[in-house]
Amino acid sequence: MKKARIVGTGSYLPEKILTNFDLEKFLDTSDEWIVSRTGIRERRIAAADENTSDLATRAARQALDMAGISPGDLDMIIVGTITGDYPWPATSCLVQKNLGIPGCAAFDVSAACSGFVYALDMAARQIESGAIKTVLVIGAEILSRILDWEDRNTCILFGDGAGAAVLKAEDGPNGVLSSHLHADGSFWELLYQPGFGTRHTPSAEGMDQRLHLVRMQGNEVFKVAVRSLSDVALEALGANGMAVADIDHFIPHQANRRILEATARRLGLKDEQVVINVDRFGNTSGASIPIALDEANRAGKIKEGDVVLLDAFGGGFTWASSLLLW
Ligand code: UT7
Repeated sequence: MKKARIVGTGSYLPEKILTNFDLEKFLDTSDEWIVSRTGIRERRIAAADENTSDLATRAARQALDMAGISPGDLDMIIVGTITGDYPWPATSCLVQKNLGIPGCAAFDVSAACSGFVYALDMAARQIESGAIKTVLVIGAEILSRILDWEDRNTCILFGDGAGAAVLKAEDGPNGVLSSHLHADGSFWELLYQPGFGTRHTPSAEGMDQRLHLVRMQGNEVFKVAVRSLSDVALEALGANGMAVADIDHFIPHQANRRILEATARRLGLKDEQVVINVDRFGNTSGASIPIALDEANRAGKIKEGDVVLLDAFGGGFTWASSLLLW
């Protein structure tokens, strides 16, 4: 069986930086509170003329460049996002148009912050089955457009960005070793965007009720997140006969520094195993894992043969892990 190997990564973060001190100017909050409760110092905000497909395309071009693969060689594009340009068509179709490669398959995955790991699994299984050879997987979000900037419980956490990976069919042991996807829809109401789907169709009244903006019960999310992130990480290790000490790079969804530290403690990970960039970019939902992966990869930290564990948790609830032999 072929392995699905990541042969290129890329990322794009919008230029505009919004610091905690900027937030202090219009919100009843403080840099001290945000840093101590979340570890976040600043986040990126997309420009008015930037859309999710633009961020995604920039990240994709970087990943393709690193891989030395021309867009025309792609068999499939999958974008993990909950903030697409439109409810439909899929943002992946817009990325495909931007890359100028009509014909290949393109679809989005809606699994909130777990979107990239879900998408990576779809890509890997398509490649392993022999059906296709080369897939572009992207996580891209513009959360800033669906945040309630008057709600200090949520708006301080999130940021915009995109990350991408190109997967290719290869012989040999390197690639995705396994991935493990889960969801529990009974938690749907703890983290969601009420409008405007079929349940709440667009209306002036709905806008007044701010139904189009993110709602979250942070405390409840926190508890389930730590447990799920730990469990699904151990599931991946168990499936491959590995131990926590075998992980070279643990790349969790960058939700909040306290969630990451609690998960790392529960698993017994050492600081040097854990990749953290939430201080600079906040929680970029489905984009956070591929952005962190690309940063570590571009910095030359990830070497051939390293064991990389991607670990995600998000709205739905959804959670997922993917174990890679680099
Ligand atoms: O991808 C998954 C996405 N979701 C998450 O990662 C969320 C996970 N949850 C969290 O990260 C944390 O629950 C938060 C950071 C959202 C909140 O931290 P917390 O330690 O759970 O605080 P809390 O909700 O228990 O609130 C404590 C106090 C409250 O005041 P009172 O009621 O005790 O007077 C809040 O109103 O802190 C207040 N508070 C703030 N104060 C200053 C909440 N947000 C802020 C703020 N600045 N931004």
